Amino acid sequence: MKKKTAIIFGVTGQDGSYLAKLLLNKKYVVHGVIRKSSSINTNRIDDIYQDNFKKKRVFYLHYGDLTDSSSIKTLIHKYKPDEIYNLAAQSHVKVSFDVPEYTADVDALGTLRILEAIKDIKKKIRFYQASTSEMFGKVREIPQNENTPFYPRSPYGVSKVFSYWMTVNYREAYNIYAVNGILFNHESPVRGDTFVTKKIIKALCKIKYGFQKKLYLGNLEAKRDWGHARDYVYAMWLMLKQKTPTDLVIATNKTYSVKYFINRVCKFLNLKIKWKGKGIKTKAIFNGKVIIECHKNYYRPSEVDKLLGDYSKAKKLLKWKPTTSLDQLIIEMIDYELKLLK
Ligand code: NAP
Ligand code: GDD
Repeated sequence: MKKKTAIIFGVTGQDGSYLAKLLLNKKYVVHGVIRKSSSINTNRIDDIYQDNFKKKRVFYLHYGDLTDSSSIKTLIHKYKPDEIYNLAAQSHVKVSFDVPEYTADVDALGTLRILEAIKDIKKKIRFYQASTSEMFGKVREIPQNENTPFYPRSPYGVSKVFSYWMTVNYREAYNIYAVNGILFNHESPVRGDTFVTKKIIKALCKIKYGFQKKLYLGNLEAKRDWGHARDYVYAMWLMLKQKTPTDLVIATNKTYSVKYFINRVCKFLNLKIKWKGKGIKTKAIFNGKVIIECHKNYYRPSEVDKLLGDYSKAKKLLKWKPTTSLDQLIIEMIDYELKLLK
């Protein structure tokens, strides 16, 4: 039987690396799209890298960029994949306030460029769009499901809303199997260093063993619905296996504050901290020294205060549910960090 072929945009990212491994295990031929960078950006996929001389090669990397329609079109038309996963993005919400135009180019127009390339090809390609709970922003209801109206709060969120609707529009206008996975926050040991979970765990592991003195953070009161990337990429794959293309929320149905997250990390690291102060004046003290402080640089011009998903529809249609608790996720991330430190 002919192997299925997939193109992953954003293969070097957290989700891209988990998804590539999942698809290779499922016997796909995987084409990952990477962008040119001045330093090596493939560390998350080095373990599955295959060079030109490998016989029966099933994993390929190609240069491309979501700001460059010619590379997108060339790759899609050359490899005519069964499935395309658009995981590529400028994915940092705070950074999107600093580079709003670039964020929109990649996160909004980038999706349109892929959809246009799919539209122009005869082969029936199934398309997954990495939509996000950030689209709910200033939430209109709690919890959020597929019918909750969007109210994005950052250039990132606004760009993702554009991509969401483009995906819906191309599905309806051109009969393309295109779906939005509305994924709530998901983390893993290979989460980018500047996202809050990884930043906290990395710093507290270093503080515990004397490699760092202090951690600066922003809003500790924000609440997020945090799952594990491994569970979430499995949901992406399932979403392209349905009879009818349907947009789905993927979440854990639980929400915790950043402060609660810190408390759990400290518990597992046996760091007995005491909290003092409120808001931007909040501090965490350990052995008489301040180890966590808030700094205005890490606050956002407009914040998303509370995200809580409701994944009932995915549970029903995909028979999907998260398999990793927040504590299990934290323990896995700490173990990874401590191994690196050693
Ligand atoms: P990530 O770790 O930041 O990975 C983003 C990927 O996109 C990287 O491979 C990056 O390449 C690539 N990329 C960035 N700009 C690009 C461009 N101009 N052209 C081509 N590729 C580009 O993000 P993630 O956490 O894996 O998330 C995957 C997707 O899901 C993103 O679209 C994100 O917005 C969305 N999402 C994430 C979450 C979450 O909690 N993780 C939740 C909902 C939705 P480099 O490695 O070269 O930077
Ligand atoms: N990054 C960061 N750094 N966030 C901080 C910090 C800090 O020092 N201090 C507090 N926070 C708060 C943020 O203000 C936010 O409320 C929360 O921690 C989570 O921030 P991030 O981990 O950066 O994630 P995010 O929720 O903004 O965005 C992530 O999840 C989205 C899905 O809801 C990203 O992965 C997005 O790409 C994704 O779409």
